[in-house]
Amino acid sequence: MLDEIVNALNLRGEEQRALHQKARALTIKNVGANIYLRALIEFSNICKKDCYYCGIRSSNKKVSRYQLSFQRTMEIVENIYRAGINSIVIQSGEEQSENFIKEIESILYAIKDRYADDIRVTLSCGEQSKECYHRWFLAGAKRYLLRFESSSEKIYNTIHPNNNNHNFNARLNSLKDLKDIGYQVGSGFMIGFPGQRIEDIANDLLFLKMLDVDMVGMGPYIEHRDTPLYARKEELLSPSERLSLGLNSIAVLRQLMKDINIASTTALESLHPQGKILGLKAGANVVMLNFTYSEYEDKYSLYENKSKARFASYDSVKRSLEQISIADQSFIIDPKQHGDSLHYKMK
Ligand code: 5AD
Repeated sequence: MLDEIVNALNLRGEEQRALHQKARALTIKNVGANIYLRALIEFSNICKKDCYYCGIRSSNKKVSRYQLSFQRTMEIVENIYRAGINSIVIQSGEEQSENFIKEIESILYAIKDRYADDIRVTLSCGEQSKECYHRWFLAGAKRYLLRFESSSEKIYNTIHPNNNNHNFNARLNSLKDLKDIGYQVGSGFMIGFPGQRIEDIANDLLFLKMLDVDMVGMGPYIEHRDTPLYARKEELLSPSERLSLGLNSIAVLRQLMKDINIASTTALESLHPQGKILGLKAGANVVMLNFTYSEYEDKYSLYENKSKARFASYDSVKRSLEQISIADQSFIIDPKQHGDSLHYKMK
């Protein structure tokens, strides 16, 4: 199995195109031709973690930190709703203070109050206590994204500081807590960072299957000059190789997990102008549109060359959807769909 996956990840040229086509056909057959939209709000870049690869790590003093106010967040939610999108992702740096937990909780209750079941909310706010995950679930969050970054504890420890705050098993426990509570759970990892081999990526893909996740976000690693991992830049595969590995990973995962939601991640776009569309053609069925106001774009810089595309209105969304639909006749996009994971629904 591992060898087969490694072979598939290494395909290029005509064989690679065939791999992607097969994955797209499997997607249509199992989850349908629909591409689901998620409107992203980057709520806060304040982060207690210090991951060696990430631009908003706590040690990066060059970042000016922000947390959106309750009002601003609700204003963006209203923009999203008016633009016709009914699925929101609230992403944030990791913080465990009661103030932060309460703020997210209030936003969730306010969304429930104003939009009832119209809007589906996904959270991506890092590792939290089970109690906190539970509170947010009661307040209305139905999905949670938490990447494991690498399924090998040894490799995990090479890209994170060696302290209690960065613990591989704690990360896995969080994923288990989320599942126990009843969230649709998403996870994933970075592809092509220094020290990671193709075999490791194959293992990460199998690990997603073992975890039985409902959703996946995985994307190429992109260096950031203000992070420790930047020092190992010389070891990196070329951007086009990382793009290929990212796309092939999507295609392989679609074969391993036919009915999950797979995001065509923003990092693909940083490596190729059509990256998002290429991801969809390779078996992904979810795209994210960033609704955070442009004034925050430089502050939420996880990696270099991160897409600056911003959406605020129905027109801007429409233009983007047109581009996506033109790219492939098979894509059907209905922004109003919640796009719950079929895998979760079938359980
Ligand atoms: N390149 C690619 N992805 C990154 N992330 C953080 N830093 C980088 C980087 N330099 C991803 C991590 C994290 C998600 C929010 O962003 O996988 O889980």
